[in-house]
Amino acid sequence: MVMTDPRDQAHQSSTGEQTLTTRQGHPVTNNQNLRTVGSRGPTTLENYHFLEKISHFDRERIPERVVHARGAGAHGVFEAYGTVGDEPVGKYTRAKLFQEKGKQTPVFVRFSTVGHGGHSPETLRDPRGFAVKFYTEDGNWDLVGNNLKVFFIRDAIKFPDLIHSQKPDPITNRQSGERIFDFICNTPEAMHMVTLLFSPWGIPANYRHMQGSGVNTYKWVNDRGEGVLVKYHWEPLQGIRNLTQPEAEAIQAKNFNHATQDLFEAIERGDYPQWELCVQIMEDGEHPELDFDPLDDTKIWPKEQFPWLPVGRMTLNRNPENYFAEVEQSAFGTGVLVDGLDFSDDKMLQGRTFAYSDTQRYRVGPNYLQLPINAPRTHVATNQRDGQMAYRVDAAPGQNPHVNYEPSSLNGLKEAPRTHPDHTPWVEGHLVRQTLERTNDFQQAGEQYRNFEDWEREDLIGNLVANLKDAAQVIQDRMIDLFTQCDPDYGRRVAEGLAQVRQSAEEKKEQGVQQAEERSHEAQPY
Ligand code: HEM
Repeated sequence: MVMTDPRDQAHQSSTGEQTLTTRQGHPVTNNQNLRTVGSRGPTTLENYHFLEKISHFDRERIPERVVHARGAGAHGVFEAYGTVGDEPVGKYTRAKLFQEKGKQTPVFVRFSTVGHGGHSPETLRDPRGFAVKFYTEDGNWDLVGNNLKVFFIRDAIKFPDLIHSQKPDPITNRQSGERIFDFICNTPEAMHMVTLLFSPWGIPANYRHMQGSGVNTYKWVNDRGEGVLVKYHWEPLQGIRNLTQPEAEAIQAKNFNHATQDLFEAIERGDYPQWELCVQIMEDGEHPELDFDPLDDTKIWPKEQFPWLPVGRMTLNRNPENYFAEVEQSAFGTGVLVDGLDFSDDKMLQGRTFAYSDTQRYRVGPNYLQLPINAPRTHVATNQRDGQMAYRVDAAPGQNPHVNYEPSSLNGLKEAPRTHPDHTPWVEGHLVRQTLERTNDFQQAGEQYRNFEDWEREDLIGNLVANLKDAAQVIQDRMIDLFTQCDPDYGRRVAEGLAQVRQSAEEKKEQGVQQAEERSHEAQPY
């Protein structure tokens, strides 16, 4: 994917050996010494080669992603099954990439952790990102998902607060359980996500052995313009593996890059990881018969009612040639859909769709879509021009280069013909600021708690107690209340765990006082 330019070949020495140049194409004959007055200096400022080298180095970093900064990526291919369950996929979506059995679409995937910086350990308890870019014939489709199937919040306006509470304290620069749970204890819709995140499912063993999920609700649209609601899920064909906290800590003591290493090395040795893409389909609408709203991303759609239907398989088979060019500069977004895929009214999805391209215009630059990793591998012709780092003009062959506007009678770009009816849902209502009516914040969290195996519940309680023990009493009490509303046993066990920690802290304190008193007796002769 690194762009090769014919000019890169131009600087050959007479022997055919490749020689070093500046970016201006000047041969570099001495790359070891500054230009100085005599061997001991002073240094001259007209040293263009040095100035170019050092000032480029000074600008090597771009802003990190504000979330999901730590990541690893790989290229691969998606192969369609042509069906969704037992039915032809075309019944539900006209998206070309899914239609024919065996049809292949190139993909690039970036996996990530969320909360910490670009070189933070990959063993942290944190959701994992699972972002896939499909380079389809109709332009790009990005499916920007996580490993867990639900999220902390259901309204995009809360996202900066959620993330601030999980990022380091603005004064001490340390992440703290108190800050995280201060937000969570006032956000009851987070209980389902918290129950998963603090269980062993909160630390996937690596990227190859984890699931993926689109989390938000999307739509599929068929060639008659009819829409259905869909959720996407990736199932790893290598199986699922998670880590307990002690297992993660043991790995972290030796290697904080283990997931990146695992993915890279597996692909290098030809052990290509694969995932099956499944969808859940629901008729469009409010579904008052359900005890949750289908647009609520804090809920799963129960498998028994909405089965997982396989639609294709993805294989990752090529490592990046350059981490920065491909992985760091890759830019995914939920707005990047192709014909036959559409948005639902999921309020998180709507908010996300603004955030991604907005941050990427800042993080990578306004022409980020001209970079090879982000550029569609199909016809691109726009009247957008210029801006920092414009690399080329996105014009059509034969387009009058003077015409960078539309409409025009002078051979400019024309609107594409409409091939299918649009999906045109009817929407009406008062403009309000209100949450969804069916919040039902505790039921699925409680079911998840009861569905865990004993050791998973044990691990969950231990992790919660460890993270809550230093939080203010008011936060602990509120969390116990929320856990109790999920399941009385859940609340009771967290409360008991916290009480135990308090008791042993008091015992230690008493022991400390006694020892200090004994020492002060011994000290009297002086
Ligand atoms: C990355 C915003 C919710 C998955 C990002 C980035 C932003 C962002 C600004 C950095 C993008 C970049 O620099 O390229 C938001 C907002 C959300 C939200 C405002 C809620 C309103 C979610 C949810 C998921 C998710 C629910 C999971 C389904 C990801 C992933 C990435 C990411 C996987 C990393 C993409 C990559 O590898 O480059 N998000 N996010 N986000 N987000 Fe979200």
